[in-house]
Amino acid sequence: MLIEEEKYLRIIETSRIKGQEDVYLKAMRYINLGYPILFFGPPGCGKTSIARHILNSLERDYLAIEAHEGMTEYHVIGGFHPLSMSASREVAEEFMYKDGVVVRALMHGKNLLIDELTRAPSSAFSSIFLLLSHGVLTLEHREIVLKKPDDWVLIATANFGDVGSFKLSGALKRRFIPIYVSYPKRFVEEELIRTYAPSLSDEITHAILDFAEETRRMWREEGALPQGLSTDGLIKMARYCELLIREGIDEKTAFSDAAFHQGVVIADETDQVSIQLVSELALNLARDL
Ligand SMILES: Nc1ncnc2c1ncn2[C@@H]1O[C@H](COP(=O)(O)OP(=O)(O)OP(=O)(O)O)[C@@H](O)[C@H]1O
Ligand SMILES: [Mg+2]
Repeated sequence: MLIEEEKYLRIIETSRIKGQEDVYLKAMRYINLGYPILFFGPPGCGKTSIARHILNSLERDYLAIEAHEGMTEYHVIGGFHPLSMSASREVAEEFMYKDGVVVRALMHGKNLLIDELTRAPSSAFSSIFLLLSHGVLTLEHREIVLKKPDDWVLIATANFGDVGSFKLSGALKRRFIPIYVSYPKRFVEEELIRTYAPSLSDEITHAILDFAEETRRMWREEGALPQGLSTDGLIKMARYCELLIREGIDEKTAFSDAAFHQGVVIADETDQVSIQLVSELALNLARDL
């Protein structure tokens, strides 16, 4: 077993991401079965942190790459560096063929994290389909075939349907085990607020939790917002409120100020209706403080 059952609990307990035990367990079990994992879900709920924490707990080191819209097979598998076409012979020789990140990981015996997989078009990953399904990677140019070690771990993360992201092709998605990472339960987030902003009153803590819950409902059920407040946003909001209150600013002002900031993050800034909706929500909750 790559991750012994006795280690499950220790990995979960040492994570700074709280309330995602189920996600951790699913991921570690599938990793033990040798499958690549894809963490997906709304922004700021711990996907990258969970992936890194699992990879850090393994003996084998790992490489990490963040996918982007200009990503191609060159970055994934390898190819001729753009400067290999240079008129200067020295430069051209220095920048010849470059291995991509998957090849470097396999050749140097390292695991791999592909963060934000859907920021790149799925075509960038076409050449690793066989690797993902059958464990072999043929490098045409080098005339070699790389074999995936049995205990090689690949974890990817993605936001499905986020603005600026590509739709994951069915063929690529099928080759991963998708694991949904959503917002943790309310009591977990309440605990997080108490940890990150211990001097906040119960009233303002609940107002922040209500703001988070309501924006998520507006996103999920009504599609009125492009996303709900993330756990990351909730922590930022709590810490900012605490700072303002410590500086002598009243709770109402502190809360509405923090909520407006996060409102801009989650609303569609080009859509006045969406901005207005979160602002009204912030004011309504502030009024009761
Ligand atoms: N459940 C949680 N417990 C504690 N902290 C959390 C939790 N969820 C998110 N955070 C905090 O939010 C921050 C962002 O987390 P992370 O970058 O891992 O999220 P993500 O899902 O990868 O976000 P994105 O979709 O934007 O890439 C981290 O600093 C993390 O500490
Ligand atoms: Mg991330």
